[in-house]
Amino acid sequence: MIFETHAHYDDKKFDQDREELLSSMKEHGIGTIVNVGSDMETSRWTVEAVKRYPMMYGAVGVHPSETENMKPEDIELLKEYSKEEKIVAIGEIGLDYYWNEPERGIQKKWFEAQMELAKEVNLPIIIHSREAAKDTYDMMKAADAEEIGGVVHCYSYSKEMSRNFMDLGFYIGIGGVVTFKNARALKETAAYAPIERIVLETDCPYLAPEPNRGKRNSSLNLIYTAQAIAEIKGISTEEVIAVTEENARKLYRMEGK
Ligand code: NI
Repeated sequence: MIFETHAHYDDKKFDQDREELLSSMKEHGIGTIVNVGSDMETSRWTVEAVKRYPMMYGAVGVHPSETENMKPEDIELLKEYSKEEKIVAIGEIGLDYYWNEPERGIQKKWFEAQMELAKEVNLPIIIHSREAAKDTYDMMKAADAEEIGGVVHCYSYSKEMSRNFMDLGFYIGIGGVVTFKNARALKETAAYAPIERIVLETDCPYLAPEPNRGKRNSSLNLIYTAQAIAEIKGISTEEVIAVTEENARKLYRMEGK
């Protein structure tokens, strides 16, 4: 079944129909969902939600754009959350130079601290990196990220850069953008990266694939992303779904769970 590696069902865009939507997933072939925290509040939400939804697992962490007011106590709290059952990763964490706020020094400080946390609690990391490829990679190298493992989510760099992340043992998260006509670089990466290194994600409610581009996204749209990757690689959609599910279980160390 389809494994959704990156969703934000805490988002208020799901307030109207969250229960209904999540309970319809299985019948549409979605077997597992990892909900990803982006600040302290949504990390807390995730810890609670995974208790309510059997198919849901979680990640806790603070997105680079949300690090402005982060405090050392937040790292302690994230550590506690990370020990809860069904929390499988630290994320999303990283660097975002597109928005460029807060200043880079603050983003870097908390990226580093959260990688250290992941190392300490022995969980993989979910990397958010936008227009910050070199700094992200350099910081991962400096933190010995190959010993941590994880995924570069919503991958948006070149295929050449993907080689560097894969050499650190990281997976490449591919979302709905791969279905867009003008997404040349991502299509190249999808062709280049071995299927064994790719995982499926939505980043919902954002980034809905064609033919639903511009609408609210949900894991139900993952089939279009899987179809696009299958077409690019010249393999069946069933194979893309099966292999990426296995990859995701390795990524989040859920084998046997
Ligand atoms: Ni996200």
